[in-house]
Amino acid sequence: MSLLLSPVEMAQLSLKNRVVMPPMCMYEVQKEDGVATPFHFAHYGARAIGQVGLIIIEATAIHPDGRLTNQDLGLWNEEQAQELKKLVASLHFLGATVGIQLNHGGRKAKDAVQAIAPSASRFNEEYQIPTEMTIATIKQTQKDFIEATKRAIAADVDMIEIHGAHGYLINQFLSSLTNQRQDEYGGSLKNRYRFVKEIITEIRQFYQGSLWIRLSLSDYVTEQNSLKQWQTLAQWLEADGIDCIDVSTGGLLDIKPNIALHPGYQVPFATALKQAITIPVVAVGLLDDPGLCEFLLQTKQTDLVAVGRGLIRNTNWLADAAKELKDTNFKMYNHSYFRGQK
Ligand SMILES: Cc1cc2nc3c(=O)[nH]c(=O)nc-3n(C[C@H](O)[C@H](O)[C@H](O)COP(=O)(O)O)c2cc1C
Repeated sequence: MSLLLSPVEMAQLSLKNRVVMPPMCMYEVQKEDGVATPFHFAHYGARAIGQVGLIIIEATAIHPDGRLTNQDLGLWNEEQAQELKKLVASLHFLGATVGIQLNHGGRKAKDAVQAIAPSASRFNEEYQIPTEMTIATIKQTQKDFIEATKRAIAADVDMIEIHGAHGYLINQFLSSLTNQRQDEYGGSLKNRYRFVKEIITEIRQFYQGSLWIRLSLSDYVTEQNSLKQWQTLAQWLEADGIDCIDVSTGGLLDIKPNIALHPGYQVPFATALKQAITIPVVAVGLLDDPGLCEFLLQTKQTDLVAVGRGLIRNTNWLADAAKELKDTNFKMYNHSYFRGQK
């Protein structure tokens, strides 16, 4: 029996295996109302039937101007919450464990009427110059995160992931490359952490379930948060009630990282965080080879693996992984599917 495909209790969740579908925006909300469509039921349903251990629904905006595009999912009103509840119920019916990623795009909210950010510097010339957030806007945006979290809980999700990666609003606060504030939300690492810390602390007043955060551990430039600083942040996040850290990189700056992309290229970042904390981590990034995933788990470089584009290409990635790993314990969805399992 492989570690990859065997069940695990982790981060306050009972997972049927260690494969995570990471959040991936589908830009399929043609009506621009942030409400899930039949596409989302089919898209996530297929991965539920494919026996993915944890499905994290794509970045879902907490405010209309927090969307990356107007085709994003949203969770700032009741209509969106009602449809999300139906989507989650349909995935639970299929036996899946389901989370959602909550996001505000900040200066990368391309279609926003007025983009906001910790400081008034734009991502690149194709993006707006964002308005620097006042303390009142900071408090309101934190409240929007809280309200969206309450709607996600009411929709019965099994976990909530705060999007702190890829250069979106929370990431913009965390980095001095995008946060030049002079007040208590800028300057020192502790001050830059304050925006998300206050959100997490408030969530923990009413939600004891599984709460994750996604971080970008490298901006691929020299003047960035050091690995040591990320380890410190991870320790603060653990102390403040985060159950798992989903470790990615990039997205803060408009640069093309000068790195060789290879399977597992982001794993060392996950492992480095893992060494500093006791909560689990997720590694992601070109982890399409089941043998590599199994090796990373066996050697404790990560606790869970996320497969993104691999699951876009192949909804039955896990069945193929079972074949490759010769894991005869893995079962496809039902008896009819067993007949398709070689
Ligand atoms: C179409 C697409 C949409 C994505 N949207 C999101 C998103 O909503 N939130 C997020 O944190 N990452 C997003 N990502 C990044 C993925 O979650 C993942 O980290 C990345 O694709 C690397 O993993 P992979 O090599 O297995 O695909 C997206 C990636 C793709 C391909």
